[in-house]
Amino acid sequence: MQEYQLEEYPGLNLYIALNKIREEQDSSLQFDFVCRAGICGSCAMVINGRPGLACKTLVSTLPKTITLNPLPVFKLVGDLSVDTGTWFREMAQRAGSWIHTDKEFDPEAVEERMSNEQALEIYELERCIECGCCVASCGTANMREDFMGAAGLNRIARFMIDPRDQRDGSDYFEVVGSDDGAFGCMGLMACDDICPKDLPLQSQLARVRRAMAKAAFAPKKKVAF
Ligand code: SF4
Ligand code: SF4
Ligand code: FES
Repeated sequence: MQEYQLEEYPGLNLYIALNKIREEQDSSLQFDFVCRAGICGSCAMVINGRPGLACKTLVSTLPKTITLNPLPVFKLVGDLSVDTGTWFREMAQRAGSWIHTDKEFDPEAVEERMSNEQALEIYELERCIECGCCVASCGTANMREDFMGAAGLNRIARFMIDPRDQRDGSDYFEVVGSDDGAFGCMGLMACDDICPKDLPLQSQLARVRRAMAKAAFAPKKKVAF
């Protein structure tokens, strides 16, 4: 651990504070950022024990002494910088994060429609910025490195409700019907509390669990409801 002192002023957020420290006090300090607007998910770190986004955290909301740590679970790059990209790429491959269909693509065909409600529900879950805060706060993810985490289960839910995806109950059971997936979740909802984008993780974890119970009785049916 290393200590720095900085004078606070109105509007100072952790993102600006870290940049000032790097410019004025320690050019070797490592941390990540891209957008400065809560969109890219790069600046997630543990802020006084709680995962959050540095660019969305005002210093005035924190006590005078602020302790920052890198997110656990992900591979440490250095100081506050971690490699979330590799974790999310592996999760996406494992979840089969694309539309699974045996329909041939016909560029001349009229677009297939889905209801506005379905489209809005999918967009809601697509708002995940892959910051990793939910994974870092998760007891199971901290104990089991193969756990898909709330971000992974949310991704599965996103495809379950997509009418274009033809996967049935047994297809999803193979991916999340184990302790690395839906059954490893302890349901204490730290993920839901911490998500900086307020994704409805609690309802999506429940959706995936219900879908797995349904799949046990009717494995060949599409599981969305
Ligand atoms: S509810 Fe499940 S996914 Fe969310 S933090 Fe707890 S164990 Fe992890
Ligand atoms: S679900 Fe929320 S906390 Fe988890 S990675 Fe996505 S945006 Fe971050
Ligand atoms: S810098 Fe992009 S979310 Fe903070």
